[in-house]
Amino acid sequence: MSAGDLYGPELVDHGNQPRNKRKLARADISAMRSNASCGDEVRVSAAVTGEKLVDVVFEGDGCLVSLASASMLTTLVKGKSREEALTLVGQARTYFDKLGDAPASMPGLAAFSGLSRFPVRRACARLAWEALANALVEASPTAASRT
Ligand code: FES
Repeated sequence: MSAGDLYGPELVDHGNQPRNKRKLARADISAMRSNASCGDEVRVSAAVTGEKLVDVVFEGDGCLVSLASASMLTTLVKGKSREEALTLVGQARTYFDKLGDAPASMPGLAAFSGLSRFPVRRACARLAWEALANALVEASPTAASRT
């Protein structure tokens, strides 16, 4: 059985060819989260101009699900305001908890619906979103510039 049989094709595509998996020369906000069950770490960083996240990237390694989720996150929140990004984080958290219908604002997350059969993988999907939440709420520009 291949990953494509378990997960949506968009998940497999993002997982195998992650978008925006790179380091920012200058991150205004940044935070790392680790998955306690496996030890994998993902850092999400963003360049912020005014209130807008003008560039969003991630670093780190993990499983196909975590890479796909981080990759999709970067494409979904780039160009959003901090407040809009926080709203998307909340919607993604709710979606990964329940795995019902994907949020209307992020229909691509439906690619993760197969996680309903693999509850432990929900933490993999949430990893980058939790890192972004930390970056948006807790990481001050001063702290981020030191990392
Ligand atoms: Fe480590 Fe999924 S197994 S992030």
